[in-house]
Amino acid sequence: EEWKERGAAVATRQEVDQNGRPVSKIVKKGVNDFHFGRTLGEGSYSTVLAATDRQIHREYAVKVLDKRHIIKEKKVKYVNIEKDALNRLTEHPGIVRLYYTFQDERSLYFVLDLANGGELLGHLKKMGTFDEECTRFYGAQMLDSIAYMHSKGIIHRDLKPENVLLDEQMHTKITDFGTAKILDIRSAGGTGTDGPGSGDPMDGAEQERAVSFVGTAEYVSPELLTDKNACKASDLWAFGCILYQLLAGRPPFKASNEYQTFQKIVALDYRFPDNFPAVAKDLIERLLVLDPSKRLPIEHIKAHSFFEGIQWGKGLWKQKAPRLR
Ligand code: ADE
Repeated sequence: EEWKERGAAVATRQEVDQNGRPVSKIVKKGVNDFHFGRTLGEGSYSTVLAATDRQIHREYAVKVLDKRHIIKEKKVKYVNIEKDALNRLTEHPGIVRLYYTFQDERSLYFVLDLANGGELLGHLKKMGTFDEECTRFYGAQMLDSIAYMHSKGIIHRDLKPENVLLDEQMHTKITDFGTAKILDIRSAGGTGTDGPGSGDPMDGAEQERAVSFVGTAEYVSPELLTDKNACKASDLWAFGCILYQLLAGRPPFKASNEYQTFQKIVALDYRFPDNFPAVAKDLIERLLVLDPSKRLPIEHIKAHSFFEGIQWGKGLWKQKAPRLR
């Protein structure tokens, strides 16, 4: 059974039994529990709609996936990866949370956090570039979210400004885990309750067999191109590309086609514009390093002077976002 539901999210409903006594029944949410509204986005395998829970009048983003199309295009594996990854990532404000999944004859439904502010890319295009303060704030929120997903054993593998959404408060929410890699939980390094191995051998170049997936050309790490192997540090390469892009207005590696973009990446062929902030340049140069084991680890990125003044942890998510400049 391809669409088996595991660990399904449930709600309770008050009913009466044969004797008229009130009983609390556990019921699964379904399509009819939501009122569907405007279209928020369309992908090749899914449509995202705004939808309101009829009981509690809360609005969500519901990703609707067409089962026939997914089977025909052999994407079943990726749908399951997205669901499994999101089910591990339910406790962080910087990641789009999955509340319920259900299905009908035709479609699968993922009920997600609504991020009303749209994609980070759209805001960047409108602004041209971000100033240092905005880049510091949005960069810090993204990095805090990456640290959380890595602690839960999830590598995103396709981080880019399109996959960073903004909510009403202009706080970031990372989305699109369809191409994530889910690590063995013992290697995840989350709570540290899984016994030995807390040195986290997965932080550097993890050994696993080649996979055919390649993310978006401009943000792909060199190790994916040369060894066909992504690790946690591959997300930090993409993070370095995004920081560069926020400040420069364009990604560091960009050519007229994918092949030439890949050639630039493996040759580390990029330059900073004149008047690029020196502290940001120093950080990005420590992220855009060909050898993934030599890339700055997350704790060192947080301590880098570019992020001076950032309050890491919960406080970061209580802060007012700076006005875009
Ligand atoms: N588009 C895709 N996913 C979305 C979400 N979670 N919220 C708003 N718009 C989206």
